[in-house]
Formats: sequence, structure tokens, C-alpha cells
Amino acid sequence: MVTAIYPGSFDPVTRGHLDIIERASATMEKVIVAVLRNGMKNPVFTVEERVKLLQEETSHLENVEIDAFDGLLVDYAKRRSAKIIIRGLRAVTDFEYELQMSQTNRKLAPDVDTLFFTTSLEYAYLSSSIVKEVASFGGDISAFVTPHVESELRRKMGLK
Ligand code: PNS
Repeated sequence: MVTAIYPGSFDPVTRGHLDIIERASATMEKVIVAVLRNGMKNPVFTVEERVKLLQEETSHLENVEIDAFDGLLVDYAKRRSAKIIIRGLRAVTDFEYELQMSQTNRKLAPDVDTLFFTTSLEYAYLSSSIVKEVASFGGDISAFVTPHVESELRRKMGLK
């Protein structure tokens, strides 16, 4: 069984993340979406809230599991018997960081490979930080996140 891990901060999950999760779910036998604990300094959502939002948004995908992890990603991958790490590549600006991360992970765990999905064009510019910034200034984020995530984000940020 091919199990893949899609790791990230997901603060919060965007339509871009959901696009990658759906495409990975269609390609892999099992996809574990793993939220990094202690990764962000000032997250809007707690890890448990991020896990819950991801669960709600992916409940239609039977082979997708949501989890949280601590420590090194490759150690978590080993614990979950996953040989593939999935990452989304948006623009060329992502490349350097992603290359460094995938090569480090491969050095640490040669039997774990990173597989990149190029993000769909309509989400190529999208990031959770941009979504939070637009929301904080009262901008329309409905194209970037689902209605449920939008209302939860507004509630957490103390916006209408
Ligand atoms: O969505 P993000 O914030 O870009 O995700 C980054 C993430 C969680 C994939 C990365 O920070 C990570 O894997 N952290 C776990 C610690 C680790 O294994 N670091 C070594 C990889 S270079």
C-alpha cells in the first residue's frame, strides 16, 4: 500500500491545499495530512483546530487521514510507514526552500522520497499568510478558502 504524507502548517487550510489533497487522494492509496506541532510562532488556530478544519474539509475523501506530528518529518514518516512526502510547488520562489527540504529529508531518510504537485494555476499565488493578511484588512477571502474556514477565520481574528 502506497502511503503518502502531506505535511504543513495549515493555518488555515486553503483551497490550494485542498486541491493538492484531492489530487494526492486520487493518486495514492492513502494520504496522511500531517499538521506540524510547534512549527509556527503565532498561529491563528491551535493545532487541534487546524486538524478539525482539515477533517471537516476532507470528510468526502475516504483515503485521507488528518493527524498532527512533532519533531522530524522523516521520523514521523517512518512511524507511519510512509515512503512518500507530498508538497505543492507554486512558483519558482518555492523551489529553493522545497529543494533544500527534500534533499535534507532524503539525506536523513534515503528511502523516503518527496513528490511535488504543481499547484493549479488559480491557486498559484495563494498562501495561508496572504489569506490572513487580506482577512485582517476586511478583504474578500471567499476565493481562497471554503465558506466554513472563512467564517472560522473571521471569528478567530475577531472580525465580522
Ligand atoms: O506548510 P509549511 O509551513 O511550509 O510546512 C513546513 C513543514 C511542516 C513541511 C516543515 O517545516 C517540516 O517538515 N518540519 C518538521 C521538522 C523537520 O523535519 N525539518 C527538517 C526538514 S528540512
